Amino acid sequence: MLILGLNMFHADASAAIVQDGEVVFAIAEERLNRVKHFGGFPALAVKACLDAVGAKISDVDHVAVGQDRDANLAKKVQYAAANPAKVLNFVRLRQRKHAMRDVRPLLAEGLEVDPAQLRFQEHHLEHHIAHIASAYYCSPWERAAGFSYDGSGDFVSTMMARCEGNDIEILDRVFLPHSLGSFYTMVCEFIGYRKYGDEGKVMGLAPYGKDTYCGQLAEVIGLKNGNFQLDLKYFKPLGSNEGMQVLADGTVSLARHFSERMIRAFGPAREPHAEITQRDMDLAYAMQHRFEEVFFHLLNELYEKVPLDKLAMAGGCALNSVANGKLFARTPFRETYIQPAAGDEGLAVGAALHTYHSVLKQPRRYVMKNSYLGPEFSDARIESELKKANLMYRKLERQPLLDAVAEQVAVGNVVGWFQGRMEWGPRALGNRSIVAHPGRPDMKDILNARIKHREWFRPFAPSIMAEHQNEYFEHDQPSPFMLHVYKIRPGKRAQLCAVNHVDDTGRLQTVSRDENPLYYDLIKSFHRRTGIPVILNTSFNENEPIVCAPHEAIDCFQRTRMDALAIGPYLATKSEN
Ligand SMILES: [Fe+2]
Repeated sequence: MLILGLNMFHADASAAIVQDGEVVFAIAEERLNRVKHFGGFPALAVKACLDAVGAKISDVDHVAVGQDRDANLAKKVQYAAANPAKVLNFVRLRQRKHAMRDVRPLLAEGLEVDPAQLRFQEHHLEHHIAHIASAYYCSPWERAAGFSYDGSGDFVSTMMARCEGNDIEILDRVFLPHSLGSFYTMVCEFIGYRKYGDEGKVMGLAPYGKDTYCGQLAEVIGLKNGNFQLDLKYFKPLGSNEGMQVLADGTVSLARHFSERMIRAFGPAREPHAEITQRDMDLAYAMQHRFEEVFFHLLNELYEKVPLDKLAMAGGCALNSVANGKLFARTPFRETYIQPAAGDEGLAVGAALHTYHSVLKQPRRYVMKNSYLGPEFSDARIESELKKANLMYRKLERQPLLDAVAEQVAVGNVVGWFQGRMEWGPRALGNRSIVAHPGRPDMKDILNARIKHREWFRPFAPSIMAEHQNEYFEHDQPSPFMLHVYKIRPGKRAQLCAVNHVDDTGRLQTVSRDENPLYYDLIKSFHRRTGIPVILNTSFNENEPIVCAPHEAIDCFQRTRMDALAIGPYLATKSEN
């Protein structure tokens, strides 16, 4: 049985294919069309899913979309009625959503087939149920507490659920305009980060600030009986687009979230690219602090309702790895399962698995143990791209390749590492990564000057051999998808100085040999040379979506000052070129 899952006409459009209950391929459209956070119809992703299983769209039995325009309609109408200026927009948006709801013509057109050939049944699933499904149905658990939170989706910002067997029972929803995600976005915009997806950057700025505004931001988002509430005076009305708009070309733009009240309270908003002041850092600090307070408050409330120690969690806010790292100390939950694509691209997987388990009542059999669900490329294809680019390269056996790359990294060089299937989700986890020495004090500046050109305050991440995590970090819960930030032990901070953030933390990737033998063995080769079981891992890209195909990796290698490129069994170095 083939089920195609879709996230479409929404940020991070994506497709996933579930074959007899297993997710066999999943990809965000941005990786294929190279438009970051692309929010149109994921035609290329659908085609890639079908190619991966050798099927045609006419072979697909079910198509599941992680969006339901009819969900929470009463709440939407209520909001529109209370904000009359927005009613016209609301009507227009519903008309547009109606047009996009009919998946059949879209798929027929996108794949150039006769609509009469399509025999699939169509399913639409509310946004946050799809989020929770993406976590729970990929987890190894038979029961768990389910939690989803983000800016908004189908007029909801937060959902709590009890997950058991095949079922997800919704216990609570928080409706817009109240949204922990919107609160975070609003403060990010106020301090000059106004692009969709900038929140992750600002999280890195927070530890540079101090507790100046925590009290004031507590007024902006208050706690109430196991719930939270925004003080809407600080926000512009969200409008019918729920704070975010997908433009005609598929790019995603954010509406301005902060109101004049913010300016009265904190002074002028920072313009993008203006100098970052102590005020901005202190606001970032307070924003993260308040976010965590509300998050833990909600999780403790969820535990009251579902007293299990397992938490299946998703939604864009579940990418807040700093909060995730603290939840074991601040809540009774002892284990988390957060699928690597916790944000909206994950809706494709959630909608497909929900159809399989909850709608079709098929038994659970799948666990997402790693993130390598994207495309891979043959050696022949890679070699032909290397030739086309006129690169000098050597072909190496497995161990000599690992030794050569580990040696390059050990002497301080920066290496592009392109291997196997591309990662699903926003993190590079050792198949589309740039790797470097984690213990050289100048490495952060080298990477920023030569390749990444990132904001000075953003940390780089460590990939650590699983069995060494406890020696280096103060928590031993694994973080396989780089979604937890933990304190680095005092004795190890110097050894990890290039990945040790200002607050002595690291957003680690726990690497086990089962999950990625080649990457694990690379770190092991590096460990043998340096005594450090950790490698610095940053995504393989330069201000663009992470590279997917060999020619994109080669292009990035050539236009940046990377020292070497290990692509499949081939090693190209700049000195040879
Ligand atoms: Fe979402």
